[in-house]
Amino acid sequence: MEMSNRPRRLRSSAVLRKMVRETRVSKDQLVYPIFIKEGSGIYTEIPSMPGQYHVSPDRIDEVVGRSIEQGVSRFILFGLPAEKDECGSSGFDDGGVVQEGIRAVKRANPDAYVITDVCMCEYTSHGHCGILSGQTVDNDLTLEYLDKIALSHARAGCDMVAPSDMMDGRVESMRSALDSSGFADVPVMSYAVKYASSFYGPFRSAVDSTPAFGDRKTYQMDYHNSREAMREAALDVDQGADILIVKPALAYMDIIRDVKSSFDLPVAAYCVSGEYSMVKAAAAAGFIDEYGVMCESAVCLFRAGADILITYFAPELAQAIDRGDIG
Ligand code: PBG
Repeated sequence: MEMSNRPRRLRSSAVLRKMVRETRVSKDQLVYPIFIKEGSGIYTEIPSMPGQYHVSPDRIDEVVGRSIEQGVSRFILFGLPAEKDECGSSGFDDGGVVQEGIRAVKRANPDAYVITDVCMCEYTSHGHCGILSGQTVDNDLTLEYLDKIALSHARAGCDMVAPSDMMDGRVESMRSALDSSGFADVPVMSYAVKYASSFYGPFRSAVDSTPAFGDRKTYQMDYHNSREAMREAALDVDQGADILIVKPALAYMDIIRDVKSSFDLPVAAYCVSGEYSMVKAAAAAGFIDEYGVMCESAVCLFRAGADILITYFAPELAQAIDRGDIG
């Protein structure tokens, strides 16, 4: 039959398919989260996140070393302090677990690029992302504490801070705190568009940060909304954010695409704990092919517009890139 357009022609061999790929993926775009637990000698698998570990600062070189060997040298650090209190004071302690962790990562490998999650929920006894005034989170008071956390991370030597609390005005406040303390070169990667999501469940059990009462809906976004995402992103751009995060990722590809097309900053997608653990659980049950689903979901997030992907699968994805299965 006579036919001038045959799209199958360009799919006829692997060498040709690779030549005409529209989305390219590189290991430089991957960020690997690490959970640092206060103490020593700790390297324990997180029950809700198979394949991810709690590590103490003295054993962090094992995780960092392996990850860098596989080609992933950007990390985002989360902390599990031994003590939590009302105002999350272990979060801004210069000898705190993340601060120790930053120094340990840099000691393990000075080339490691260290981003820190800046939030209060891992450090507060009530598990909320801010300072409480009665039963509500006091926005403006929280900003002062977030600034203290960010400054303390910067003093410990982090390369970038990532505020994830969703308080109003925190990027502006943190930017000016960093600037006035000699950290004008530390970029702010803002969790600009962060939804109140059930996909964070495994993470919250990993860091024991489930709110003691209520939920996070008064600060994190309602998943019915997308225009609000543009408003949040625009505010963070105005306040000096350097990179915009959209979180979660897979159920929010429309948002990733909208943020990418409306703003000219790099966009990071955070493929969160629930997205990771669902793949792990379904694969363990024999329902899906873990490797295939991992590769496909990651590439599709880049196709949607992500420039950076924060993912628990980062080292495995780097291996998939090395094998030429994606990339
Ligand atoms: C801290 C924070 C959370 C995540 C990243 N930073 C938890 C939350 O907001 O409840 C979630 C990460 C994940 O689920 O993988 N606020």
